Order: sequence, then structure tokens, then C-alpha cells
Amino acid sequence: MLDVKKDFPIFNEQAKKFVYLDSSATTLKPQTVIDSVADYYSKYSANVHRSIYTISEKATAAYEGSRSKAAKLINAPTNSIVFTKGTTESINLVAYAWGRKNLRAGDEILLTEMEHHSNLIPWQLCAKDTGAILRFIPFNDDGTLDLSDPDQYFNSKTKLVSVIHQSNVFGTVNPVNDIVKKAHDVGAIALVDAAQSVPHQPVDITDIDCDFLAFSGHKMLGPTGIGVLYGKPELLEKMDPFLGGGEMIRIVSLSDSTWNDIPWKFEAGTPNIAQAIGLGAAIDYINEIGMDAIHKHDQELLKYALEKMREIPNVTVYGSADERGAVISFNVENIHPHDLSQLLDYDGIAIRAGHHCAQPIMKKLGVSATGRASFYVYNSKEDVDRLCESLVKTVKFMGG
Ligand SMILES: Cc1ncc(COP(=O)(O)O)c(C=O)c1O
Repeated sequence: MLDVKKDFPIFNEQAKKFVYLDSSATTLKPQTVIDSVADYYSKYSANVHRSIYTISEKATAAYEGSRSKAAKLINAPTNSIVFTKGTTESINLVAYAWGRKNLRAGDEILLTEMEHHSNLIPWQLCAKDTGAILRFIPFNDDGTLDLSDPDQYFNSKTKLVSVIHQSNVFGTVNPVNDIVKKAHDVGAIALVDAAQSVPHQPVDITDIDCDFLAFSGHKMLGPTGIGVLYGKPELLEKMDPFLGGGEMIRIVSLSDSTWNDIPWKFEAGTPNIAQAIGLGAAIDYINEIGMDAIHKHDQELLKYALEKMREIPNVTVYGSADERGAVISFNVENIHPHDLSQLLDYDGIAIRAGHHCAQPIMKKLGVSATGRASFYVYNSKEDVDRLCESLVKTVKFMGG
């Protein structure tokens, strides 16, 4: 098991026994990431790409260096990496710049019933604007996708398939390689929402072969306000810009303009420089530990937590896919998850309670909300023990 709590200063700030189990929402930050952001602001806080003086060149090198690190992380070419504010913006970029140009009335956009709102609402808006139709692959009781009859969903009308890689509710890791292949077989393009997978497992773009892939820096030890859109260069080249302004242009006249090369064509205005640099530091930190070691650590914690939580009376755990990440959604009989979260907070344990930006999943499960414990590099088996002890105490307190 990893033992890296000492790298995360928040554990010194909080009461000694602070247990953080909400990494699916956002992760804590190691000191190296905090230092990299502070260094930029205190030592070379100039704009990027625009000036020919030392600190501006240093800022540009650091910003572009982070792009190369993000590219390497998913085995993609550097010019395929567009910096955005996060997964949500990455998906909206595709829905606006690709979707509205290429989708027509009657075309089908294929999603799943387990999407995060950020991979649902942009397509609802896009469907309204284009007349395209939304279709959904359903999920089974165990939190896996029902792909038993794929011909029902993949057909000649399917033009875009957009699917969550790892569910932020069930933890299920979906078979994205198969889904992307099925999309390509019917001539559709495929987007993978990798917000929950890139931080937790090796992701190789050449293996998945998707056309677009999105993830967020803050869910992988980096700052908020920075995310990545990977796009196949030939697709990015053909797309019109998403936002207009400085940086994304080549020649501007009063009546018309031409565009910068990819990826800068999609980065209008001053970007989130400090955040991008912080993401680079987060990727360095992850590489130092090793993604395989992180995955192994997560899986060990998950197995341990599932075994213990399933033994607690009156606790229902949602989802039981064979392949899943370290996130567990659950409910305790007769306690609203918000009350549960507050009770656990008295014991210094932070879990998420709510619909997890996946209201359609809650509706299908017949609940308004769930509790959710999610794990990352800084968690230990002791954290799982603390969670379970507190849950047992709460169940007893409620007369269970
Ligand atoms: C699977 C998934 N997709 C997308 C998002 C949205 O990410 P962000 O809020 O960083 O844009 C999240 C965030 O929880 C997520 O879990």
C-alpha cells in the first residue's frame, strides 16, 4: 500500500484524524503542486506566447511543458491536447465546435443512462439546436451497461457516441474499446469522458482509439480550473473554433480572420497558466508513484472497503461490476445521505452525499440521493476502518 499522506499538507491543517473520502469530487493537492503554482505567481507570473522577455519565455515553456506531460500521460501527440477549464468545458467544446457543424435533424447521439450531467446536458442542448435525437444504452441492476443487443443502439443514423469511462456513481469501468469500435463500425465518432479514469488507471489513447477524450486536473491532484480535451488532430483541424478572441487567431482584419494552428485555435484569451503548470506538477507526482502502483493501491482499498461495508447491517451498496474503480455509492436504511454525511463529519470523515450530478441514475435506482466514499493515493485501510466504525455506530444510533 502507498503511504503518501505526508506529501499532502491538508492533513497537517486538519484535526489529526481527518479522513477524506471524496476524491471523485475533487482530490487533495500535494505540496509539490501547491509549490509549482506559488512559484509561478511569485517568480515568473507573465503571460504566455506573447512576449520576448525572460519570465514570459519561462512561463510559456512551463505551460507548453505541461501540455507535453498531459500528452505523454495518455500516449497522444502534443498538438492533440487542448487545455480547457475541465471535463465539462471539454465536452461542451465538442458539442459546439463539432456537434453543431456536423449533426443534422434525425441523426442519433448515443449516450448511456449512467452519464454525469456534464456528458448529458451539452448533448441535450446540441440536440435541441440541430434536431438530432438522443438515445441511451441502459444499465443493469449491477451498474454495468446492457450491451446484450448492440444493434439496437448502433446503426447508420448514429453519428456521435459519448460515453463515461468510469462511472462516478457505481465505479463501473465501461468497455470503452468495444464501444468505440462499434461506433466506428457504423461511421460515428466517439468521445470518452475520462474524468474518473485518467486519474486512477493507465489510459492509452492509441488503445482506446476514441476521437475525443476529456478529463479534469483537479480530480488528479492538480488545481481547479484546468482540464484537457484530447482530439484526433485531423478532426481538430477540420473543426471551427469554439471561442473567439486573442491567441486563437493568425491574421485578423476588421471583417474576417484566420485561425492559429491546433491546439491553440481552441484556446482563446489568456489561458489558466498557473493551473496548467500545476497540472504538470501533478502529472510529475503521479508518474513518480507510477500509475500501475496507484491502480493497485486503489483496488486493494476498494476490495477491503467493499468486504467490510457489505457486512454492515442496513447498508446497501450500489453496483457490483467486476471491473470497477475505487468509488462506492451506498445508503443506510432510514437515514438520508445528507444526515449520514453530517454524522460522519462529526467523526472527521468527509464523504459525498447527493445525486452526484447523475439524477437519471438516482431515478432509476428509486432514491433521491446516495452517500459516496471514494478513495485515492492518500487513503489507507485505517481510513476504511474509521468509515466502517462510524457507519456501524450510526446504524446502532438509528436503532438498526
Ligand atoms: C464522470 C465525470 N464526468 C465529468 C465530470 C465533470 O468534471 P468537471 O466538474 O471537472 O468539469 C465529473 C465530475 O465529477 C465526473 O465525475
